[in-house]
This record gives sequence, structure tokens and C-alpha cells, in this order.
Amino acid sequence: MLFSDIRRTWMVFFAAGSMILLCGLLFVDMGKIGFPTALKLASVPTSNYLSARLSKIENSELPNFYQNCLKQPEAHQIVFAKIHKAASSTVQNILLHFALARNLSVLLPALSKGPILSQTESKIQPEKIIEYPVDKSFDILCSHVLYDTNEVRKYFTNKAVRVAIIREPMNQTLSALRYYATSFPSDGTKAGLKKHPNNPINGFLSHPDHFCSSDKDPRVSFINN
Ligand SMILES: *[C@@H]1O[C@H](CO)[C@@H](O)[C@H](O)[C@H]1NC(C)=O
Ligand SMILES: *[C@@H]1O[C@H](CO)[C@@H](O)[C@H](O)[C@H]1NC(C)=O
Repeated sequence: MLFSDIRRTWMVFFAAGSMILLCGLLFVDMGKIGFPTALKLASVPTSNYLSARLSKIENSELPNFYQNCLKQPEAHQIVFAKIHKAASSTVQNILLHFALARNLSVLLPALSKGPILSQTESKIQPEKIIEYPVDKSFDILCSHVLYDTNEVRKYFTNKAVRVAIIREPMNQTLSALRYYATSFPSDGTKAGLKKHPNNPINGFLSHPDHFCSSDKDPRVSFINN
């Protein structure tokens, strides 16, 4: 249950290259003077802070790995699979600033439908996203939606870099358990906590099914997806 098929597919798909690609992407960008300048033009309130941080990084001695990243061409098409409790909102924020700085087109949910595409489905429905020219594909995806290669292919070219962060599974699980018990209690988690009030961690590990609403797909527990 902890490692659903979806999770396993994710790991195979992304594990090896993901962090390397991400670091490459970020550090490649940090090497360009245009990033902080463009941020200023875009009037992002944190631009002064970011500029200062970025020039500090540019001027510091970077290990060889990052030096080599700086020599790579900058990626402008990026599909970021946003995974719960794995620093993904932080990276989303960076990608949105990057998109502003580079005038890239971002696939975004229509505001009336909420800030995420879907937490439970992989379908990206055209009527749920902000309108875009039909003859053009997007550059950036960083809103939450369960990753599905075929769905993503409808909106992004094969050139787009696919990136995800895979966090150590036990820490991710515990972080999700804490989050969905306190900050954003879900029905499933509440039921599980009621059944295992003294030791919810052991409770979840031995009976993950107790932490799902009975009528729902286990992936919707958010703790194991
Ligand atoms: C940003 O991109 C859009 C469409 O791709 C274009 O119409 C617009 O002129 C660009 N803006 C700038 C400042 O480059
Ligand atoms: C898991 O979390 C613990 C406690 O926060 C931390 O010390 C440890 O380094 C983490 N392990 C991994 C592999 O991230």
C-alpha cells in the first residue's frame, strides 16, 4: 500500500535523473545575469532579495558538478511533477518566477476551479485550465496533478524536461501523515487517527487502509500517493 503501483512507476520514471536535472536547471539559470534583472522588470516583490542571493551564488566558488551545469543550455520547457510533502511548493515558486523572468507560458488551473489541477486525477481537462492558443504547447507545468505521460503529452512537447523530487519514503509518509492530520485534515486521516489515537504512526504502517475513506480509492488518502 505504501508503494502503490503509481508510486513505483514514478520512482522508475524519475528517480535517477530528477535531482540532477533540477539542480542543472536551477544552477544553469542562476548563472545568467538576465534572471534577477528580468525579475525586477516583472515587479516581483521579492526580487531584490532574490537578486542578492543569486549574485552571491554566482560569485561563490561552486563545486565542479554545478560549474558543469552552468555550461549546459538553459531549459525552457519543464514539466514538474508536483509531489506532496517533497519541497514541491518551493520549487513551484521558483518555476513560476522563472516563467515570469523568461516570459514562458505556464499551464495554470482556471482560478474559479481552485489553485490546483487535481489532487486525485491525472486528467488535465481543457475547460479547467486558463485558455491558451490551440496551436501552441505550454512551457511549464508546476501545478498539482497526478502525473500521466499521455495526458502531459497533450500539452507539452517531448522536448520538455520531466522533473520530480523523490523524498526518502518514510520521511515523506510521516510528513504527509502529520500534515493531513493537522494542517489539512482529510476524512480518511481523521478516521485513522480515531482508530489509532495512541500511536498513529504504527497504526498507519500496519493498517494504511484505516486511513482511507472506505468509499475512496486508497490513492486519495494523500499519505501514500
Ligand atoms: C511574451 O510572450 C508573448 C506570447 O508568447 C508575447 O506576445 C509577448 O510579446 C511577450 N512579452 C515580452 C515582454 O517579451
Ligand atoms: C529523515 O528525517 C530525519 C528527521 O527529520 C532526518 O534526520 C533524516 O536525515 C531524514 N532522512 C532522509 C534520508 O532524508
